[in-house]
Amino acid sequence: MSTKPIGIFDSGIGGTSIWREIHSLLPYENTIYLADSINAPYGSKSKDKIIDLSIKNTEYLLQQDCKLIVVACNTATTNAISVLRKNYDIPFIGIEPAIKPAALNSKTKAIGILATKGTLTSDLFYTTTSLYAQGHTVIEQVGDGLVELIEMGKIDSEEMCTLLKTYLKPMLEANIDYLVLGCTHYPYLMPLLLELLPKHIKIIDSGLAVARQTKAVLEKHNLLNTSHSSAKHQFYTNGNPKILKAILGNMFEVDYLDF
Ligand code: SIN
Repeated sequence: MSTKPIGIFDSGIGGTSIWREIHSLLPYENTIYLADSINAPYGSKSKDKIIDLSIKNTEYLLQQDCKLIVVACNTATTNAISVLRKNYDIPFIGIEPAIKPAALNSKTKAIGILATKGTLTSDLFYTTTSLYAQGHTVIEQVGDGLVELIEMGKIDSEEMCTLLKTYLKPMLEANIDYLVLGCTHYPYLMPLLLELLPKHIKIIDSGLAVARQTKAVLEKHNLLNTSHSSAKHQFYTNGNPKILKAILGNMFEVDYLDF
C-alpha cells in the first residue's frame, strides 16, 4: 500500500479527461497533474523534442515522489513511453487510441481515427492498426488546430465547428460507424461531435481503459492507497491557470508553475 501520489502529465489540459476517469475509479488516490500547455501541441513536434519534454515532465513528477506516472497524452505515449520505461524505475501507463475495440465492433468495416500527426505517424500506431484493423478501411485524420483551440478555451466556437466538419467529411463519405478519438484533448469535443455526427456512429476514447489499467498496475505492484482518507489533488500548469481551472469545473485550485 502507498499513499504517494499518482503523477499525470499532458501537453496541456486535455489529459484532465484521463484524470477524471482515474479519479472516478480510484477516489482515494492522491494525484498531481502537470499541464505543459506552453509546449502544446506536442503533435506537431519531432520525436526527439517529444521525448525531451516527456523526460522533463517525468523528472518534475518524480521530484514530487509520485509512485506511478500516467502519460495522459497519446502523442507522448506513442513517441516517448518506451524511453521513459527504460530510464525510470516506476510504472508508466500510456494512452493508445482505441483501435482494437472499434475494429472488432465495426459493422461497416470502416473506422475513423482523429489524432495528431505525431500519433498517426508513430511506429506504435502503425503496429496497432496493422494488428487489429486489417481488412478495414481506416480513415486517418490529423486534427490540426484542434488542440490549440481547446488550449485557448475555444471548445464550442465557430472555428472549431468548421474544422471538425472538414475533418469528418471524408469519414462520413467512407461510411464509418466508429470514430476513435486518438488525443486526450478530444473528449472535450464530444458535445459538438454528437451534434455533427449521425446517431449510428459511435465515438470512443481510451479514458476508462486507462483508468482500469492504472488500477490493475497499482494492485500488481502493491501500490494502491487503501487508507480511505480524502484524497489531495494538485494541478500545475505553465500556461493559463484559469483555463485549466475552468475545464475542471472550477472545483480545484490550479497553480502556475514555471517548469
Ligand atoms: C498534442 O499535444 O498535440 C495532443 C495531445 C495528445 O496527443 O493526446
